[in-house]
Amino acid sequence: MTTSPTTAIVLGTGLGKLANEITDATRISYKEIPNFPVSTVEGHSGNLIFGKLGDKDILAMEGRFHYYEGYTMQEVTFPIRVMYELGIKTLFVSNAAGGTNPKFEIGDLMIITDQINALPENPLRGKNFPTGPRFPDMSEAYNKELIQQALAIAEEKRIKVQQGVYLATQGPTFETPSEYKMFRIWGADAVGMSTVPEVIVANHCGIKCFGISVITDLGVEGKIVEVSHEEVQKAADAVQPLMAEIMREMINRA
Ligand code: HPA
Repeated sequence: MTTSPTTAIVLGTGLGKLANEITDATRISYKEIPNFPVSTVEGHSGNLIFGKLGDKDILAMEGRFHYYEGYTMQEVTFPIRVMYELGIKTLFVSNAAGGTNPKFEIGDLMIITDQINALPENPLRGKNFPTGPRFPDMSEAYNKELIQQALAIAEEKRIKVQQGVYLATQGPTFETPSEYKMFRIWGADAVGMSTVPEVIVANHCGIKCFGISVITDLGVEGKIVEVSHEEVQKAADAVQPLMAEIMREMINRA
């Protein structure tokens, strides 16, 4: 393996197929990596992929770990620690989320501008690792330059994008109408069950972050219907090509 990537991507819901575009790929099953957790959710496989996306060396996580699976926050974020040790400087993440912003529609892509940690714990709880300070700054959890770049790319390619705040809960339940309402009052535009722990640890490691949510359902009063994992997956699959187009170009320019 001769790649030395400085860019990593977490292929969450809505980006899985991007894995097929990685050339010169070396796949390492999570099972073969010491201390790596193993993904249990349907639709999430488990491989670290080293290879190229376009001309860029890249490290991709095919499948991620969620707190609701029973992992500790340290386990959920262990791959980010590994990325740091491997020299990763920029992290791209994707996820599926329920929209709480009344202007959003199913199938919208939301560039994440900030996040709210509504999980029961912070992944940095415990002894501080020397990658960052005990009390890390989170004033720019998502890199502003990368956000501007994504907006420019979306405009060039005439892809409709929203911008907003992503809030992560522990799941695995989707929200009650009252919970969606509360999260909206808190300032969330979208609600999901991932990403926030990884982005906290990446920030602590000095890794720049960029994220996109695909809005797969709506937590907006009057528009709330029954949600299932299958519908979330289906809605995410439908916009996968657009999400991939933005990410491909972002990585190309990284
Ligand atoms: N809530 C939480 N997580 C989600 C949702 C949601 O509505 N949609 C997709 N992931």
